[in-house]
Amino acid sequence: MACPRSRGRGAAYHQYGKSEAVFGEVLARSPGLRQRIVIQTKCGIRLPEGDRPGYYDLRGAGIVRRVEESLARLRTDVLDVLLLHRPDPLTDPGGLAAALASLHAQGLVRQFGVSNMSGPQIAALQAHTDLPLVVNQLEMSLVRRDWVEAGVLFNTPDATRNGFAPGTLEWCAANGVRLQAWGPLARGRLTSGADTRVSRLVAELARRKDTTPETILLWWLRRHPAGIAPVIGTTRPERISACADAARREPDLTHEEWYELWATAREAPLP
Ligand SMILES: NC(=O)c1ccc[n+]([C@@H]2O[C@H](COP(=O)([O-])OP(=O)(O)OC[C@H]3O[C@@H](n4cnc5c(N)ncnc54)[C@H](OP(=O)(O)O)[C@@H]3O)[C@@H](O)[C@H]2O)c1
Repeated sequence: MACPRSRGRGAAYHQYGKSEAVFGEVLARSPGLRQRIVIQTKCGIRLPEGDRPGYYDLRGAGIVRRVEESLARLRTDVLDVLLLHRPDPLTDPGGLAAALASLHAQGLVRQFGVSNMSGPQIAALQAHTDLPLVVNQLEMSLVRRDWVEAGVLFNTPDATRNGFAPGTLEWCAANGVRLQAWGPLARGRLTSGADTRVSRLVAELARRKDTTPETILLWWLRRHPAGIAPVIGTTRPERISACADAARREPDLTHEEWYELWATAREAPLP
């Protein structure tokens, strides 16, 4: 769901909460739908308003209020998963933990997770709460590859050019934190008609495997053993259909094909 920022229950919806509001209307019109789906949303980013710049806000009281606003927009009683959108350097972990405990105890949020955080950052938050942080949502795609390159560039001169915290994937796996990929289709950069070596390879593999280029991109993530769940960001039925094989079929990429996609996207040999 988009970052929530309405002016409160019953107030006019700010555009930043619009996807939740629209989703809430669909839920209201579709009895029984809520029980069949998992709703995950995020909180913790305050977007710019007028002259005021945006900022991150993981203060406890703000999180409770954001959840109340999201629930009102979504017209539901409970969020299945709430993600803390980005690290807030001013976080008071005790205050944050108290807010999560209160939301959970009231039955307003079932599970919590984070986004855009490294292993040590998650560990630092987890140390203050018994509620498990179960998801880490990171930008991951064949265009945004630092998450996979961090592991192999370690101990090479190129390591300093990669800002991704090495070990984050491994830390998440070891601690039961599920990985989700945002931006998994790289906003269409490889599938919207671009004529590059990698987009041609994606299209060629799709033809050979009787599927879509979108599925090849999503298989490339799913083929990684970290168990990455791609989160696609479209409202177009045809785009959702183009991604359907990625969920319906097991990733059909050989070890060699997976590496060929990576090396071609990288435009440089592996170390
Ligand atoms: N945690 C975070 O910090 C964070 C940040 C950003 C986003 N997210 C979440 O991640 C999810 C997906 O992110 P995303 O929207 O960046 O992912 P995405 O699925 O990689 O990109 C979706 C966007 O790319 C466009 N697109 C995809 N294929 C295209 C094609 N072949 N031609 C033209 N346009 C194409 C889509 O347009 P169409 O609508 O036309 O399909 C849509 O605007 C969202 O639910 C979002 O909430 C999280």
